[in-house]
Amino acid sequence: MAPKKPLVVVTRKLPDPIETRMMELFEAQLNLDDHALSQSELVDAAGKADVIVPTVTDRIDSGVLAHAGPNLRLIASFGAGVDHIDLSSARQRGITVTNTPGVLTEDTADMTMALILAVPRRLAEGERIIRSGEWQGWSPTWMLGHRISGKRLGILGMGRVGTAVARRAKGFGLSIHYHNRSQLPEAAERELEATYWESLDQMLAHMDIVSVNCPHTPATYHLLSARRLKLMQSEAYIVNTARGEVVDENALTRMLERGELAGAGLDVFEHEPAINPKLLRLDNVVLLPHMASATLEGRINMGEKVLVNIKTFVDGHSPPDRVISTES
Ligand code: 8YV
Repeated sequence: MAPKKPLVVVTRKLPDPIETRMMELFEAQLNLDDHALSQSELVDAAGKADVIVPTVTDRIDSGVLAHAGPNLRLIASFGAGVDHIDLSSARQRGITVTNTPGVLTEDTADMTMALILAVPRRLAEGERIIRSGEWQGWSPTWMLGHRISGKRLGILGMGRVGTAVARRAKGFGLSIHYHNRSQLPEAAERELEATYWESLDQMLAHMDIVSVNCPHTPATYHLLSARRLKLMQSEAYIVNTARGEVVDENALTRMLERGELAGAGLDVFEHEPAINPKLLRLDNVVLLPHMASATLEGRINMGEKVLVNIKTFVDGHSPPDRVISTES
């Protein structure tokens, strides 16, 4: 008799080729209508699955993990960020966690660059005017934005995505500055012509545009606090394609309302999918629904990584994208 296939619970609809392969390889429980699972559905999944494949919309907290059945040995997350998973709880229970790094980098950097261009050049505002039917025709002093070339871009978090943003931004004539837990090797700094700021406060005070590209961890929660946001120049812009929780969204909104910051491009929010209604009323923001990595190619690459992580693990090997928890 063939050995029993592991039960893999996939919490959201994935691209068809990934779901097909998932069903060939494993006993897969798919989410055909793609609804976001409730906490009780997650508890149910944790109780019976050998492997769970969650996404950013699932909160795999200690409450869910407290109901983990004896079979649950792997959480193979579909995504790079793992802030929706209680890593220390998983580790205590001997549950391995994997993610899908590397394959979202270029797509996310493209969208970051799109926001860096869109906000100072008022792209969304212009589009809204055309659609409103109120465009009266060209005028030399109307809809003026601000030039990108020659400005200073401060990248907060110079990992894969931050570096890919720096490469693009350099091509648009921005000078590259960054703050990171550790300084890049000299050769990488030279290639990007990047200036390292050990002090985040100092960097913020000197930048024209700040791009948030660090993960959300307990250490980066509200890293851009009200105090730090106030250090920025009133003509400066913020772009965030990482996680809403890194920025104090209420403080940011207040400053945008008062003209204490020039504008923001946000793909992520503190309480997704809820959006602060005050943000919706502002003209100087471009708001996107967490779509920086949303390409079909990227989603298939992510799915492939999930498959490889699960298959390697169930075959008794260490999966390639094991997340090492740095929290105790
Ligand atoms: C993904 C992301 O789409 O991978 C991440 O960390 O933020 C997104 O771009 C999402 O997480 C999928 O779960």
